[in-house]
Amino acid sequence: VTIYVPGDAAAVSVGADAVAAAVVREAEARGQAIRLVRNGSRGALWLEPLVEVATDAGRIAYGPVTPEDVAGLFDAGLPQAGAHALRHGRAEDIPYLARQDRLTFARVGVIDPVDPDDYRAHGGFAGLEKALAMAPADIVGEVTASGLRGRGGAAFPAGIKWKTVHDAPGAVKYIVCNADEGDSGTFSDRMLMEGDPLCLVEGMAIAGIATGATQGYIYLRSEYPHARRALETAIARAYATGALGADLLGSGRRFDLEVRLGAGAYICGEETSLLDSLEGKRGQVRPKPPLPALKGLFGRPTVINNVITLASVPWILAHGAQAYADFGMGRSKGSLPLQLAGNIRRGGLVERAFGLTLRELLYDYGGGSASGRPIRAVQVGGPLGAYMPESLFDTPIDYEAFAGVGAMLGHGGIVVFDDTVDMAAQARYAMEFCAVESCGKCTPCRIGSTRGVEVMDRWIAGIEPAQQEAVMRDLCDTMLHGSLCALGGLTPYPVLSALDHFPEDFAPAAPRTA
Ligand code: NAI
Ligand code: SF4
Repeated sequence: VTIYVPGDAAAVSVGADAVAAAVVREAEARGQAIRLVRNGSRGALWLEPLVEVATDAGRIAYGPVTPEDVAGLFDAGLPQAGAHALRHGRAEDIPYLARQDRLTFARVGVIDPVDPDDYRAHGGFAGLEKALAMAPADIVGEVTASGLRGRGGAAFPAGIKWKTVHDAPGAVKYIVCNADEGDSGTFSDRMLMEGDPLCLVEGMAIAGIATGATQGYIYLRSEYPHARRALETAIARAYATGALGADLLGSGRRFDLEVRLGAGAYICGEETSLLDSLEGKRGQVRPKPPLPALKGLFGRPTVINNVITLASVPWILAHGAQAYADFGMGRSKGSLPLQLAGNIRRGGLVERAFGLTLRELLYDYGGGSASGRPIRAVQVGGPLGAYMPESLFDTPIDYEAFAGVGAMLGHGGIVVFDDTVDMAAQARYAMEFCAVESCGKCTPCRIGSTRGVEVMDRWIAGIEPAQQEAVMRDLCDTMLHGSLCALGGLTPYPVLSALDHFPEDFAPAAPRTA
C-alpha cells in the first residue's frame, strides 16, 4: 500500500517529517509493508500534515495528523483506509480542492515530485514533445494565443516577451527563471517547485526551444532549501532520463539547466537586479531600456519569467492555446494560483480561472478570519500591494478590474487582517520595508522611504497631522513617478490605500503640536 506524507516546507513546518517517521515505525512494528511517498502539498494548508492512503476507491485523506495520531490510524485500519475522526474521504473531493481549476498545479500534491516516470504518467513532457515537433515561431505563437501574462506580478504578455527574444539576433540566448519569490504572503512558486519541479524544468526547456536558447538558470532564493533539494534532484533525474541535456527526448536538440542561489535581498527579485546578481555582482537595478529581452544576462537576449509563468507553458502546449484561453475573463486568460494567508481560517493555495471575486475567495474558500472577527482589510499583491476595504471585496480577480480600483493582483498573494489592524502602523511598515530593502540607486526611494518613516512616526504621535498628510501625499507622488523600479514606485500603493480607505486610523485621538 502507498502512503503519502507531504515533504512540502509548509507541511514540514507543522510536523510532517515526524508524522512520516511515525508512519514508517508503526508499519514496521505491525509487520505491514508500505511504500512511503513524500509528495508536495495539495494546498489545503490548515489540514497539513495531510496523510493520504492509496486505496481502490482513490486516495483517502486524513488530517491534520500528529505523530500521536498515527497508531490510532493504523488501529482504524489505515492501510485499508478505515473510519477515523480525521478522515476526509477522497483528497480530491475535499470541497476546497474540488472547486478549483487546477491547470498549472494539476500534479502538485498528487505525484512523487522527483520521479520522472510518475511525472510522465500524469501528463508530463507532453507539452515538450509537442514543442519539439513545432517550428520555434509557432511555439511562440501558441503562447501568445493562449493570452498567458507574466505571473510574477507585472502581467506582461509572455508571448510578446518570447517573440522579442526569438527575433533578437545572436547565437547565445538565455532562459532565466525568477524564483526569488519575495512577496510576503506568497508561496505558489515554492509549492510548485517543491511539488512538481519537473513542470518548471519542462516549461524552461520549451522556452529554450521556442527562442533558440540552450542554457537556463533558475535564480532561487536561498530561503527555500526544500525547493532547492527538489529542483536539484529533479534536474539530475531529468538529465539521466534525457529530458535535459544534449539530446532532449531524443530530438537532437539541446537545453541545459542550473540552479543559482540568491542571498536574501528582496530587490534581487526585480529582473535587472537579478541579472546583476546572477552575473556575480551586487544586485542593483539597471535602467530600462535596454530590455533584458534584448540585452539581458551577460548582455545577451534573455527570457526572464516567473516560476508560475514558465510552469504554465507545458499545459498550454499539451492542451492547446485555445483551451487555456477558454478559462478566465477579459484580458486575464487562464488561471491564477491565489495564495490565502494572514488572519484566515483556511489558508492555502487556490488555483482558479480569473473572474471569481475576492469575497468568494475570502469566505467560500478561506472561511473568514481565523480569529472569528470581521475581516477589515486585505492586502493583495505583496508588501507593495494596496490594502482593500470590505467595500471592494466584490472586485473580480482580473488584472484590469484591480487596476480600476487602484489595486494590483501582483503575484496573487492575499494577506488578511481583522478589525484589530492599525492601518497607520501598516502604512508605516510599507515605508520601513522600502527603506530596508531599497537598493539605493535612486533618490526618491533611497531617501524618500526613510523620510516616509519619519513622517509616519510624527503622524502617529499626533504631531501636526494635517501637515504630515500633505508631506506624505507629496512624497508618495514623487516616489510613484520618480523611482527607477517597482520597489520605490509601488510603495505609495499600500500607504495611500491605507490612508484613503481607512482615514479614521490616521486621526489621532488627541492631536498636539510639536
Ligand atoms: P515591468 O512592467 O517593467 O515589466 C514587465 C516585464 O515585461 C519585464 O520582464 C520587462 O522586461 C518586460 N517587457 C516590457 N516591455 C517589453 C517589450 N516591449 N518586449 C519584451 N519584454 C518587455 O514590471 P517589473 O518591474 O518587471 O515588475 C513589477 C511587478 O513585479 C509589480 O507589478 C509587482 O506585482 C511584481 N513584484 C513581484 C514580486 C514577487 O515576489 N513575485 C515582488 C515584487 C514585485
Ligand atoms: Fe533601487 Fe529603490 Fe530606485 Fe528601485 S526604486 S532602483 S530599489 S533605489
